[in-house]
Amino acid sequence: MSGSVITIASLKGGSGKTTLATCLAVHWHLKWTNPLLIDADPQRSIMRLAERGQALGGIDLMAQADKNVWETIKTHSPNYGVTIVDTPGFDSDITVAALAVADLVLIPVKASPLDVDRMMDTVKTLMSGMTGWAPTFRCVLTQTTRGSVISRHIRAELEESGFPLLATDMPNRVAYAEAGLYGATPSQLAPEGPAARDITDIATEAEVLLSTKKPRKATSA
Ligand SMILES: Nc1ncnc2c1ncn2[C@@H]1O[C@H](COP(=O)(O)OP(=O)(O)OP(=O)(O)O)[C@@H](O)[C@H]1O
Ligand SMILES: [Mg+2]
Repeated sequence: MSGSVITIASLKGGSGKTTLATCLAVHWHLKWTNPLLIDADPQRSIMRLAERGQALGGIDLMAQADKNVWETIKTHSPNYGVTIVDTPGFDSDITVAALAVADLVLIPVKASPLDVDRMMDTVKTLMSGMTGWAPTFRCVLTQTTRGSVISRHIRAELEESGFPLLATDMPNRVAYAEAGLYGATPSQLAPEGPAARDITDIATEAEVLLSTKKPRKATSA
C-alpha cells in the first residue's frame, strides 16, 4: 500500500473522523509503516491534539485547510507508506479536493437514521466531484453499542442500499477521549486493550482494500 492515500470524510460533524484518522495513523506509525497525517480541517483538531504531551507519538503531521490540499497530498504521499487526510465536518471544496486524490475513502457514520442520511449526502458529493474515476469507499459504523438493535438495523439498511461497510465497527469507548487528554490514541496507551484491537482490525481491512486497489484513470480537483 506504499504511497496510498486514505481520506476520512463525512459531512456530518462529530461522526468520528478525527478520532479514526489519528487512531489509524498512530497504529501504522507503531507498525513502522511510515504514515503521514494531514489535517485539512480549519478547526485544526489534529494539530491541537498534537500539542498535548504525547504528540501522537511524534508522527509526521502537516496542516493544510484549503482546496490546494490535493497538491500537498500528491507531492508528499509518494514519500510515505500511507497518507491519512482528516477533513472538515461540513460541505467544502477542501473535502472535494481531498477526495479527488484518495485511493480509499473511509466515511465514519454513527448508527442513527439522521447520521445515515447525511452520510448519503457525503457519498453524493464524492461522486459528483469525480470525473471518470472514483476512489474505493467504505462506511465505518462508529460509536456503536455492541449487540444493540439499532447498530444491526443500520448495518443491514446500509448493506441493502448498496453502501459498502467495513466489517469492523468502532464501538463507543471512553478510551478514545481519555487517550486524547494526553495527545495519544489507545494504541499507544493500551496496545492490548479493546480499542487498540478494533483499530488493528480496521487498519487490516484498509490494508487489504489498498493492496487490491484499482489503477487510477483520471482525477479532478
Ligand atoms: N468510538 C468512539 N467512542 C467514544 N467516543 C468517540 C468515538 N469516536 C469519537 N468519539 C468522540 O466523539 C467526539 C467527536 O469525535 P471526532 O472529533 O473524532 O469527530 P469529527 O467527525 O472529527 O468531528 P468534526 O466534524 O467536528 O471534525 C469526540 O469527543 C470523540 O472523543
Ligand atoms: Mg474532526
